[in-house]
Amino acid sequence: MSTKESWGSRVGLVLAMAGNAVGLGNFLRFPVQAIQNGGGSFIIPYLTCFLLMGIPLLFVEWSMGRYGGRFGDHSTPFILDSIGGRNRKLWKYVGVFGIFTNLAVAAYYCYIESWTLAYVWKSLAGAFNGQGTEAVSQMFTDYTNLGTAEPIVFWIICLALNTWILSRGLSGGVEIAAKVGMPLLIFFGIFLAVRGVTLTAGESGAVYDGTEGLNFLWTPDFSSIWNFKVWLAAAGQIFFTLSVGMGSIQCYASYLRSRDDVALNAMSAGWMNEFVEVVLGAAILIPISVGYLGIERVVELTQTGGLGLGFRTLPYLFQQWGPWLAALAGLAWFGLLFFAGITSSLAMGTPIMGFLRDEFGWKRERAALAFGISVMLLGLPTVLFFQYGVFDEYDYWAGTVSLVVFAMLEIILFAWVFGIDKAWDEITRNADMKVPIFFKYIIKYVTPVILVAVFLGSLLSSGGILDQISNKAIHEQLAVITDPAQRALLEDKLLFVNGSRVLLVLVFAFISYLVYLAQKKRDREGRIPVESK
Ligand code: ALA
Repeated sequence: MSTKESWGSRVGLVLAMAGNAVGLGNFLRFPVQAIQNGGGSFIIPYLTCFLLMGIPLLFVEWSMGRYGGRFGDHSTPFILDSIGGRNRKLWKYVGVFGIFTNLAVAAYYCYIESWTLAYVWKSLAGAFNGQGTEAVSQMFTDYTNLGTAEPIVFWIICLALNTWILSRGLSGGVEIAAKVGMPLLIFFGIFLAVRGVTLTAGESGAVYDGTEGLNFLWTPDFSSIWNFKVWLAAAGQIFFTLSVGMGSIQCYASYLRSRDDVALNAMSAGWMNEFVEVVLGAAILIPISVGYLGIERVVELTQTGGLGLGFRTLPYLFQQWGPWLAALAGLAWFGLLFFAGITSSLAMGTPIMGFLRDEFGWKRERAALAFGISVMLLGLPTVLFFQYGVFDEYDYWAGTVSLVVFAMLEIILFAWVFGIDKAWDEITRNADMKVPIFFKYIIKYVTPVILVAVFLGSLLSSGGILDQISNKAIHEQLAVITDPAQRALLEDKLLFVNGSRVLLVLVFAFISYLVYLAQKKRDREGRIPVESK
């Protein structure tokens, strides 16, 4: 059954795709990654990864999606199946990644999104007025430790909002959210970035100029440039921020018409994301935090809980600007994060809905509800056991490792199994820009080789996948810590971490089973892929 969804306009499509990419990763994850990985020297691996992996994968995923859409497929299992050809039936199980990742990332991502909503509310209600640095930071700890019912309430509101928007469809829901959210996000972002960059030492209690933080972020530390871990971090950030290797780009692109361009659209959305990340994302959190707290304290904070930094510090710093500007800045910062988050989580819901609608004929409302409920069930452990590292575990396996594995396999499929000549035809067909021919070779050779290298590197390097599986870091801590309370916490952590891995594997297996059932249903109905658009 083919779903009758489509994009309302090109502007709506590009904003939705940019909204998919621009997310919490741009404002919370990027600055912290940059600082942890050598500041200015991080940008060299980062931009190299953008050019050699990000852009090629954007071309690949957009054109794979548009290709699948022609056969009425809107999620990666059957998009990959069409591309793999009828004799390569295993590809649809590789496509399971494109549903699994969206579900598992949404499970923790929607929780962060709900923090932003709660913090908009707190900022407007003046909850931070008169509080000191430690008190504001402690408020975040208490919040995530579920000191009150507030986090649960905001989380449910957030899930309900996602479900409701998704139930309204692409042009009536997702596109409207992007058209409202993206301009507001850029507007709020520019307001805060100007505040960040023009912050002057001595003004409202600031100790350093805003440019101090910028210099710190962008001064190259070349000693880290040959470090493999820095390259892995840069690659990971590029995947996460562009949402490549997730399955959501292919899904959005599958609702294009076959005569629509993919090349220029892919570039517009991709570069818009980079502008928001490198220009706006870099000019808010770090300059303002460094301006008030100094470099040493900021480095310390990025090392102990990166994603929380913007929640722990900025509300306090905004207070120094007086109550009105503080409320406005709180609204701008957390509102910006909320719009960035929701336009990304909507993109995570669409592939799951596309799959249920295509394969099982579910109505939009029912499919949206299924997504909302699945995210709630899978997200519950990240909310309840946040302090035991469940959240980080989801982020590592679903938000990092799965992206690289899926991207590696899909580019091999597209460039080598489907064939680079056909792939190149797909990328350039009806293109509104001339795609430089060297990308053909990059897609065929360079990107797959780098992806395999990144994967092998992350498998074997110290602190990599194998060490993660054996819980090396926790065991090392257990070997030296004698305090019974701390040991008990670490032992509980081991239990929760292993438990969450089992859960994620079961989810993957369950989705594979659904794909198997879907194929059986197709066989029974004698449904063979037919070009329809
Ligand atoms: N691309 C999204 C982000 O940056 C997931 O947050």
